Amino acid sequence: MKVFVTRQIPESGIKLMKDAGFDVEVSPQDGVIPRDLLLQKVKGVDAILSILTDKMDTELMDSAGPQLKVIANYAVGYDNINLQDAAAHNVILTNTPGVLTESVAEHAIALMFALAHRVVESDQFMRDGKYVGWGPMLLLGNDILGKTIGLVGMGRIGANVAKRMCDGFGVKILYYDRARSEEIEKQYKMEFVDLETLLKNSDFVSIHLPMTPETKHIIGAPQLAMMKKTAYLINTARGPIIDEAALVEALKNGIIRGAALDVYEQEPKMAEGLAQMPNTVLTPHTASATEETRGAMSELAAKNIIEVLNGRPPITPITPK
Ligand code: GLV
Ligand code: GLV
Repeated sequence: MKVFVTRQIPESGIKLMKDAGFDVEVSPQDGVIPRDLLLQKVKGVDAILSILTDKMDTELMDSAGPQLKVIANYAVGYDNINLQDAAAHNVILTNTPGVLTESVAEHAIALMFALAHRVVESDQFMRDGKYVGWGPMLLLGNDILGKTIGLVGMGRIGANVAKRMCDGFGVKILYYDRARSEEIEKQYKMEFVDLETLLKNSDFVSIHLPMTPETKHIIGAPQLAMMKKTAYLINTARGPIIDEAALVEALKNGIIRGAALDVYEQEPKMAEGLAQMPNTVLTPHTASATEETRGAMSELAAKNIIEVLNGRPPITPITPK
């Protein structure tokens, strides 16, 4: 059985697949594999271990051939995969939910605190040699204590942010999702509201939705205008959920106070003007990038492939909601 891995990933998963007796080839490319090379490398393989920048569609599945049984995405999000195309080709799809939940939630919380306490701006200020002595009005930020946190999306990651934040930080939590989750709502002392109410009342709005046609630009100029002028927006989900150009305008014009982004509409690019805004914290899609989590993702993707190639059901199949 042949497996193609589209990018260098932590070795632990590769080892599991080799130990299972598979013939595993890892992309020779340093960086995103070019499309032509990808189409060529997948020819005749039984499984593909893909990353979120690889588009998995009919062209690719045809190029692989009818023996292709499984595509294991090294990510929880799977907006890079065409689900209809996979169904038409009888290809089983898997992702890596669960193992990265805590890490992404921690990153969202880290961004929240970095914004409120102006950690990045203050760091730059020190490095620029601008600190000439203590000042009562120097770089004033905001406390998290007493604030309202609005979580948009209550899947595993949204719920984990709520779990970590509901005790000890003295915040109130609002959440919005397509469906209400009364059990975790009670457990984490949250209030279920509609999106407009959440945007109008939150001091920190954190996005935890999957990328789908329905969630694209769910935060655009009208939604930004509903937010408090003192509010901060955090996105660790997918870039196109926010209209990034509209966000830059909102930051420039004081419509909201600040934003922290880990994901962008057209990665690796950023919307024009974003990098020049001081009231932003920007990370390069690294919310799940911890040694612990990336190793666990590698192993889970590999185990999914091992299960399917041995004729068993995958551990974490993609089940579109
Ligand atoms: C990363 O963005 C993921 O979906 O796991
Ligand atoms: C992803 O794991 C989510 O459900 O938020």
